[in-house]
Amino acid sequence: MAVLVTGGAGYIGSHTLVELLEASIDVVVVDNYSNSKPEALNRVKRITGKDVTFYEVDLLDEKGMEAVFKKHDIEAVIHFAGLKAVGESVALPLSYYHNNITGSLILFKLMNQYGVKKLVFSSSATVYGLSNLSPLIEDLPLSTTNPYGTTKWMIEKILEDIYQADPTWQIVLLRYFNPIGAHESGLIGEDPSGIPNNLMPYVTQVGIGKRKQLGIFGKDYDTPDGTGVRDYIHVVDLAKGHLSALAYTTTQQGIEAINLGTGKGHSVLEVIKTFEKANDVKIPYTFMDRRPGDIGTCYADVSKAKELLGWEAKRSLEDMCRDAWRWQSMYPEDYVND
Ligand code: NAD
Ligand code: UD1
Repeated sequence: MAVLVTGGAGYIGSHTLVELLEASIDVVVVDNYSNSKPEALNRVKRITGKDVTFYEVDLLDEKGMEAVFKKHDIEAVIHFAGLKAVGESVALPLSYYHNNITGSLILFKLMNQYGVKKLVFSSSATVYGLSNLSPLIEDLPLSTTNPYGTTKWMIEKILEDIYQADPTWQIVLLRYFNPIGAHESGLIGEDPSGIPNNLMPYVTQVGIGKRKQLGIFGKDYDTPDGTGVRDYIHVVDLAKGHLSALAYTTTQQGIEAINLGTGKGHSVLEVIKTFEKANDVKIPYTFMDRRPGDIGTCYADVSKAKELLGWEAKRSLEDMCRDAWRWQSMYPEDYVND
């Protein structure tokens, strides 16, 4: 019996693999390396001392995916694979819908065919749209502002319908808030291609000298210091949340959307200050206009995760800043072979 991990070479997937392997759970990984590198899996092996069964296959390749289901006795699936860049999704909606939706449909069809009905799906706080009702609770009405977000919302809907038709499925929709940081070994971490869209990889690249200064998007939000507030969560805490969700699917039937965050909001200026103090590195910044589509404040109500999964985030913002910096400074070029 094994857990199939789609997108396991990616940022959150690789950290989750470490936790799964360290808990002696058998894994089978598929990834097409469209946004990751083989070296990530070598590093997972280095951290855990365990081999990873891996297939370079695209979710859109139904035959290739079916071969994996045929060969292995899959018990459950953790589904990370997907494209995730908001701006790119606005420019390339067809690619995003095809990759994320069609890829997921092929996966769910094969799961059904092979009687695999336990699923943990990577959703996102992006499904709360422009809601300014933080702390955000899971049963708020959903909306999205870009094609990436819409793929998450649509996949959630598709899974609800699958469950309605067949209540033997056991599905957890994990709505991540803002994952940052890296494994404390410094061996794996976020590996953005090109100019980072998200705050922490931008900050670490300024720290290492790859970029001159950080542009802060907006200083007039209705927040304590005027800069945007988010619920940053350490990627290792997030990874551990997947093991709790997986355990939940083995005991409960149903479909549950569950927030994974810390329940605490931090502003951009707070992140910069904490980063500078934790790492003794200066981050020059300048204020810029608000980024279109951004809201002032977004953080999670985390009581459902605690109640249903018995999970809560343990690591502080300082831990996140320290670990993100360790990864960036050990591997300034991210996943280059060493
Ligand atoms: P990532 O890009 O690092 O990992 C995704 C992995 O999926 C990559 O390794 C990529 O190569 C692979 N992939 C993409 N399309 C594929 C396909 N068709 N077939 C096979 N493999 C494919 O992203 P991540 O940050 O690890 O995110 C994992 C999941 O969590 C994604 O679904 C993402 O949308 C979701 N999520 C991420 C964040 C975040 O801030 N990182 C927040 C909320 C939700
Ligand atoms: C972004 C995505 C969201 C996705 C999330 C996690 C947009 C509009 N939203 O959200 O869909 O789920 O990432 O992947 O892209 N900031 C700066 N300067 C920067 C980068 C960010 O000031 O160079 C600010 C932002 O305005 C925000 C905070 O930092 O206040 C966090 O930004 P980011 O890391 O991009 O995450 P989100 O905005 O939450």
